Amino acid sequence: MDRTTELSLIREIIGLSEQNSPYLDDQIAHSPISRYASPERFEREQALIFRRKPVVAAQSSELEGPNSFLARSFLGLPLLLTRDAEGAVHAFLNVCRHRGAKLEHSESGCKRVFTCPYHAWSFSNSGDLRSVPHEATGFPDLPRPERGLRRLPCAEAQGFIWIIANPDAADMPDIDTWLCGLEQDFRWMDLSGHRIAEIETVEIKANWKVLIEGGLEAYHFRIAHKDTIAPYFPDNLLTYRQFGPHIRAVLPRRSMPDLRQSKPENWDIRRDANLLYLVTPNVQMLAQQDHVMLFHFEPLAVDLTRIRMATMVPRSSPDTAEMRQHWAKNQKITVTALMEDFVLGEDIQSGFASRGNPSHLFGRFEGALNRFNLTVEEMLAT
Ligand code: FES
Ligand SMILES: [Fe+2]
Repeated sequence: MDRTTELSLIREIIGLSEQNSPYLDDQIAHSPISRYASPERFEREQALIFRRKPVVAAQSSELEGPNSFLARSFLGLPLLLTRDAEGAVHAFLNVCRHRGAKLEHSESGCKRVFTCPYHAWSFSNSGDLRSVPHEATGFPDLPRPERGLRRLPCAEAQGFIWIIANPDAADMPDIDTWLCGLEQDFRWMDLSGHRIAEIETVEIKANWKVLIEGGLEAYHFRIAHKDTIAPYFPDNLLTYRQFGPHIRAVLPRRSMPDLRQSKPENWDIRRDANLLYLVTPNVQMLAQQDHVMLFHFEPLAVDLTRIRMATMVPRSSPDTAEMRQHWAKNQKITVTALMEDFVLGEDIQSGFASRGNPSHLFGRFEGALNRFNLTVEEMLAT
């Protein structure tokens, strides 16, 4: 974010506060509940969005150092992420190319070579088939280059490891281009210079879009978060912009409207607001004063979503006991507030079966939810 944008966003919030109004879309919108409750629709989202578009598979520091690896199920795929000796990142299916045994069972570690537990075929961490016991007798003329690990398109950019979750996909697009301008904000925050200090995983019985929607408006703060974060935020004050399929929202703290009394050269948006980024389809980030919260969504079923919630902190921040305590406390506060949203998400999902509500309504100050859904519709139509 350049300084001109930062100042204009702060001025916009001050102006909205003076008018006692959030940013308003032109009209209310309807969102049919089939978007959130239809298994057929979920399958189409998997095929046309999650298996087709760049998705964040991991934060870069989860794959720390040469020859590190991560093995995890992700979007229904057994995924093996590796960093080779030169530091380049690769994504493979964690499936042996002999007869399909799971190649690596540890969730993470450090290895140059992966050896299959079934018949000991081995593969380098850049995917090449390295050795085959009794190859000369059993597999004469084995075309080794064709039997390397199945590769997924993969790139490391802006502090994340991105994949296309489909081994038949063409190459990965340029991630900065995919971010449609948000990459400037990510560079401004130095996301590549962040590491994960705290992380936890939850599974929530709700559709992934219900949960993402919960982070895109401030209408609910005063009520749903009355015992946690509500006192820190003005009621229902937010502005947002789209960046291609992605969204940035500004969630001012109570202190931001008071900036009208101070000189703009002293303004600092991260001191007086949280910035919410939606990187469609599977990441939300909340940039706070000295760190960035990461919410990583993995739809498991139409009504079940795995969410990894992490506190990302600058690598320059000292890794002392005091700071670890500070980040742990921060993680706890944010997760407590988020769980208030997720419990509401489960309530919403459980109501779909009653069919009492054919569609949801997005008010004019909930326009970001509508924009997000329109983006999803566009992706399903292409
Ligand atoms: S299945 Fe892996 S070596 Fe046979
Ligand atoms: Fe919330």
